Amino acid sequence: MKDLLRAADLSGDDVTLLLRLAADFQNAPESAHDLLAHRTVPMYFAKPSTRTRLSTAAAVARLGGTPVAVGPDELQLRRGETIGDTARVMGAYAAAIVIRTFADADVADLAAAAPIPVVNALTDGHHPLQAVADLLTVQEHFGHLHGRRVAYLGDGGNVARSLMEAAALAGMDVAVATPPGYAPAGGAAAFAAAEAGRRGGAVTLTADPVEAVKGASVVYTDVWLSMGDPDAERERRVAALEPYRVDEELMAHARDDAVFMHCLPAHRGQEVTAGVIDGPRSLAFRQAANRLPATQAVLYALLTRRLEGRR
Ligand code: CP
Ligand code: NVA
Repeated sequence: MKDLLRAADLSGDDVTLLLRLAADFQNAPESAHDLLAHRTVPMYFAKPSTRTRLSTAAAVARLGGTPVAVGPDELQLRRGETIGDTARVMGAYAAAIVIRTFADADVADLAAAAPIPVVNALTDGHHPLQAVADLLTVQEHFGHLHGRRVAYLGDGGNVARSLMEAAALAGMDVAVATPPGYAPAGGAAAFAAAEAGRRGGAVTLTADPVEAVKGASVVYTDVWLSMGDPDAERERRVAALEPYRVDEELMAHARDDAVFMHCLPAHRGQEVTAGVIDGPRSLAFRQAANRLPATQAVLYALLTRRLEGRR
């Protein structure tokens, strides 16, 4: 497997391997410090980023390489150079390409033309690096993933899709509560149901937030308006998603030892209350910290051709 474009590209064994590598990098951050010596990794960001940009830069540095951040105004794409030509040229200089943009099809085109690994650092459809860090965080907290239930509430966007695909591959039960019209699309639910089913797990799609969090070890949410969603949708989204806010009352329906998770950035008072995200059950900042070893593991595994991909 050359590229990581979505969590569903991975096999269950790949997820296990990435979590083991990420845990190893937590313990020995510089154990592969010469893998990328004298190499560069372009990071193309067409959307803002705090965590992904900086954790990827740190991960590349720990592997001995040099990250090169570029935006849409710095390359020739806006002047008409094709994605395919850009990919071929980057392949002559770089070890891998990390890209955050809008359309998944653009990342697929880049990966198809690039002779080097391409990593999706968030698109409208997927956020696989986040999902690897999320599973690492759950594993770190509970010791294991298999059989635990993760409940996702709110907008079934990129983070929800990648979380449900990765969690199902890890043998977790997945429950997703969204209003009608906001359920995860792009085949994520069908993929997760099939993979969870193979591992004795289950996927529940519901409109009822309380039903979703019952029995959950993890309660997860994301922003209601994602980067790229038109601002004109804001009012409609807030009205539809209000009942899915994670507050103390909703957390009380989850397991007694349940934790709260959020990919960040968060909007306190919208998708989550300050009391929950800043409270003792929140792992949001562990997730953010774990982006670094998780991305280091993904880059290491791709560059050393350790991932088998979905069979
Ligand atoms: N969670 C996440 O991807 O954050 P950034 O948008 O800041 O990278
Ligand atoms: N769904 C959010 C995630 C941000 C990390 C967005 O795409 O903006």
